[in-house]
Amino acid sequence: MASSILRNPMLSSPTTITTPSLPSFSSKPSPLSFRFPPSHHRSSLRIKSLRLSCSLSDPSPPLRRRRPEYIPNRISDPNYVRVFDTTLRDGEQSPGATLTSKEKLDIARQLAKLGVDVIEAGFPAASKDDFEAVKTIAETVGNAVDGDGYVPVICGLSRCNKRDIETAWEAVKYAKRPRIHTFIATSDIHLEYKLKKSKDEVIEIARNMVKFARSLGCEDVEFSPEDAGRSEREFLYQILGEVIKAGATTLNIPDTVGITLPSEFGQLIADIKANTPGIENVIISTHCQNDLGLSTANTLSGAHSGARQLEVTINGIGERAGNASLEEVVMAIKCRGDHVLGGLYTGIDTRHIVMTSKMVEDYTGMQTQPHKAIVGANAFAHESGIHQDGMLKHKGTYEIICPEEIGLERSNDAGIVLGKLSGRHALKDRLTELGYVLDDEQLSSIFWRFKSVAERKKRVTDADIIALVSDEVFQPEALWKLLDIQITCGTLGLSTATVKLADADGKEHVACSMGTGPVDSAYKAVDLVVKEPATLLEYSMNAVTEGIDAIATTRVLIRGNNNYSTTNAITGEEVQRTFSGTGAGMDIVVSSVKAYVGALNKMLDFKENSTTKIPSQNNKVPA
Ligand code: KIV
Repeated sequence: MASSILRNPMLSSPTTITTPSLPSFSSKPSPLSFRFPPSHHRSSLRIKSLRLSCSLSDPSPPLRRRRPEYIPNRISDPNYVRVFDTTLRDGEQSPGATLTSKEKLDIARQLAKLGVDVIEAGFPAASKDDFEAVKTIAETVGNAVDGDGYVPVICGLSRCNKRDIETAWEAVKYAKRPRIHTFIATSDIHLEYKLKKSKDEVIEIARNMVKFARSLGCEDVEFSPEDAGRSEREFLYQILGEVIKAGATTLNIPDTVGITLPSEFGQLIADIKANTPGIENVIISTHCQNDLGLSTANTLSGAHSGARQLEVTINGIGERAGNASLEEVVMAIKCRGDHVLGGLYTGIDTRHIVMTSKMVEDYTGMQTQPHKAIVGANAFAHESGIHQDGMLKHKGTYEIICPEEIGLERSNDAGIVLGKLSGRHALKDRLTELGYVLDDEQLSSIFWRFKSVAERKKRVTDADIIALVSDEVFQPEALWKLLDIQITCGTLGLSTATVKLADADGKEHVACSMGTGPVDSAYKAVDLVVKEPATLLEYSMNAVTEGIDAIATTRVLIRGNNNYSTTNAITGEEVQRTFSGTGAGMDIVVSSVKAYVGALNKMLDFKENSTTKIPSQNNKVPA
């Protein structure tokens, strides 16, 4: 047994806990890390009598204003801001964030529940997999009109060339509100080194390609001058004026490299608004990367200067340092829109924020930092005595958003609410309080897992429940499923593992292998069954609660040895795909194997769906 010193947020002094011996590996994993569960599920929940109202925002269900009717190039209410979510396109470009088609569809459905105006569902020309995913989303989510007439626009990205645009249109045209988003770079540095084209040539291409998109029958065309943040102003006004004449309905202004400061970006939007001919006939949009950590601030500054579409991602994921995060931008507008932003508002039902954030976190394997604004584990934790005292006297002393508004509910107990006698109803209620809205089937599978944990553990905490949801609900479609595992390990000999897996048809396969440790031997046995060689790039494990009976969650990142790649929309490069997997269980080897099998399932799904790869064009732009 190894022991680790951990800081328990509930106690003022460090706690020592013992952890099982660390597994060893043949590949190069990162060290195991154990940490305590998200602290808000405990420390904030300890505070009693929390049903006072917050000072700045009201949690009571929706007094949301009616969303104006969707017209591509016009919004009847000047204060309404469209939310364009690009989690499935820019977000999926994050290293390791590869999503399966089913995961993309789940996320798109969740984005529709959230009420985003536009879903950028992918870059259809990147691969057959991307194409199919966008098409499926267009056919399903893009046709699910709700009682208020709301249905999200489904958008596909394309470079400024005919083949990309045609492919994007073929994918999105099934939606009720299809949109093509086409882009070409406009900064001097991109023109000279990447495109090797003159300004006049780029204007010609942009104009022709927007016209071409319209000629296919698409009435909603977005154009982006890539790297607008570093583009020469006069050139921007000119190219934007030309694409408006050619039929663009939204002009998106990307700060592609995240270099601008909020005042600068706001001025850029104001200048474009003041100087571009025909701008009054289109919607101005922002797309701010987060390289200097300013994407949310820049986005808000853009909105303040007149942008009425904001491009964002869930949890702020995206290329490099990511994008403006939906939850930050939306909650900033909700909290301060009236006071500071002249009455701006969005159509987002913020009560779905937590669920969406967790789904994206689990599916992409990109964990949100504990202190992430709005959705981080500590976002509503009040740990210091002074803050807790203030909270008890009046919540508004330290809290500007009621957790209920984003889908979290507080109860009056310490968060340790369930045990082996708790029923389905109690579990459902607690899940709802934690922000999870699950259907009956999902609830059933969680309930049986919960019962089996409760049999072995006296108290099932919020953190345990969250780990079970990740393990049961947010999993890729199972091509392979772990049935049983038997391990021998220790100091007396080589570790040996026997695993039993079921394939997609339910047929059982058994293999046995030796290795340098229990996880290594188990992974090798899995490899013997699945026969899809992969390299383990990262491995980490967390104990979700303190104590020897804690549930362990494992996250792995793998790369297929068969080089699965896709085209990066922005650079045009072939990028090696990596695949993440997570697993949870009270046995650390079971948890580890589940994570590995999950990652392999993702990789196999990608392999199956991307047999036809569309070759990279290195951003060459045929007219
Ligand atoms: O960052 C960027 O410039 C983009 C555009 C395609 C909008 O993602």
